[in-house]
Amino acid sequence: MADLKIRKDMLALLVCCALLIVGAVGMEWLKAEKEKKPIAIVTTFKDDPKTSRAFTWHTQNGQAAAIVQIVEGENAADWESAKVMTFTGTTEALDSEANVVQAAHKAEATGLEPGTTYTYRVGSGKEKEWSDKATFKTEAAQEEAFTFINVTDSQGITEQDFELWGNTMDQAFATFPDSAFIVHNGDLTEEPADEQAWTHLFAKASKWVTRIPFMPVTGNHDEVDGEAGHFVSHFNLPVNGEEDSIEGTNYSFDYANVHFVFLNTESNIKKQTKWLRSDLENSSQPWTVVAVHQGPYGGNTNKKVKDWTELFDEFKVDLVLQGHNHEYSRSYPIRDGKVVGDGESAVNNREGTVYVVTNASGQKFNEKKEDQFYHKVHFQNEKQMFAGITVDGTTLTYQAYDVDGLMLDEFVLQHGLELKHKVG
Ligand SMILES: [Fe+2]
Repeated sequence: MADLKIRKDMLALLVCCALLIVGAVGMEWLKAEKEKKPIAIVTTFKDDPKTSRAFTWHTQNGQAAAIVQIVEGENAADWESAKVMTFTGTTEALDSEANVVQAAHKAEATGLEPGTTYTYRVGSGKEKEWSDKATFKTEAAQEEAFTFINVTDSQGITEQDFELWGNTMDQAFATFPDSAFIVHNGDLTEEPADEQAWTHLFAKASKWVTRIPFMPVTGNHDEVDGEAGHFVSHFNLPVNGEEDSIEGTNYSFDYANVHFVFLNTESNIKKQTKWLRSDLENSSQPWTVVAVHQGPYGGNTNKKVKDWTELFDEFKVDLVLQGHNHEYSRSYPIRDGKVVGDGESAVNNREGTVYVVTNASGQKFNEKKEDQFYHKVHFQNEKQMFAGITVDGTTLTYQAYDVDGLMLDEFVLQHGLELKHKVG
């Protein structure tokens, strides 16, 4: 009897061991398969938005090729078609704190048709290593009214933190469904070396950032002590910034009749001032929007970028998007350090530059700082926020909402379409 019990126990033990081994092998296989799949897929502008589109994704394979395949049409499925265009990009292996090889892959599709919808997928080129397909549309050939979304400081650590960011993006696109792109004013994650956080950031907004260009500003949580490797590894951006700035932290691009300038407040400020002058001199767009992280007229002031404000004045920049303060603020129109309008009626003929901070899009809110002379609107509602900014010919309309869809601020800028904004 005892013998039988021992035999039964032995058998049960063997079955348990066998199941554990099969389970472990299965998990390893699944993990290995998963590691080949692209994660953190995001699309950006790099060259002309009318004829090109850039892509970035990560895997855990520093040897994998970086390939994007594009085919015209929405939700196209025939990857064997002769019409499929294939572009090969670059792969860069990264050091990660968790001692896991993380590889950044970047590629760009060029020679596209304006105003055209394409379906794409990214991967190594091997059959099981492609991403899901997604669709994007190039900018129309003719200038037209468009809206873009502004958010800032998603700055999460945990998956739950990034749920809040994902909700903000969902509400932003529910409110402005035809938005052409997203401007994020920096501090995307709390700790830039934490790749898990980056994975959550892109995953929770994947239905937007895989289709709609996501243009980031560099924040003090993106570049730390002059190091921004993880941040820049996630974005394939225009290469036209100041040459001593970390590539991908300072750049500009045009969309419709607006010139967008992205400055890096975290390093190389002096040389960027010179770059900014020549960038603005070379622009012939009637509208100019600047995006920075630690702004000169936010919840508080960043005096280190005073030289930039002098250029904003000289070149009559229309709007400066800022981040960093984790509270909502909107300035009166400002010129030469002074308030030049009532903040109620439209800002006409470039009489002043308006500076905004659209609170935060993640979990972190700061206590509202003291009101300053330049604050027209300044509050802390402890809700994630976003803005929709519409440029329609001679009118720019800015509307800020909370994550529940409540509009909390709005203003209008108006001027003619003179080719040079350095006027009057
Ligand atoms: Fe921040």
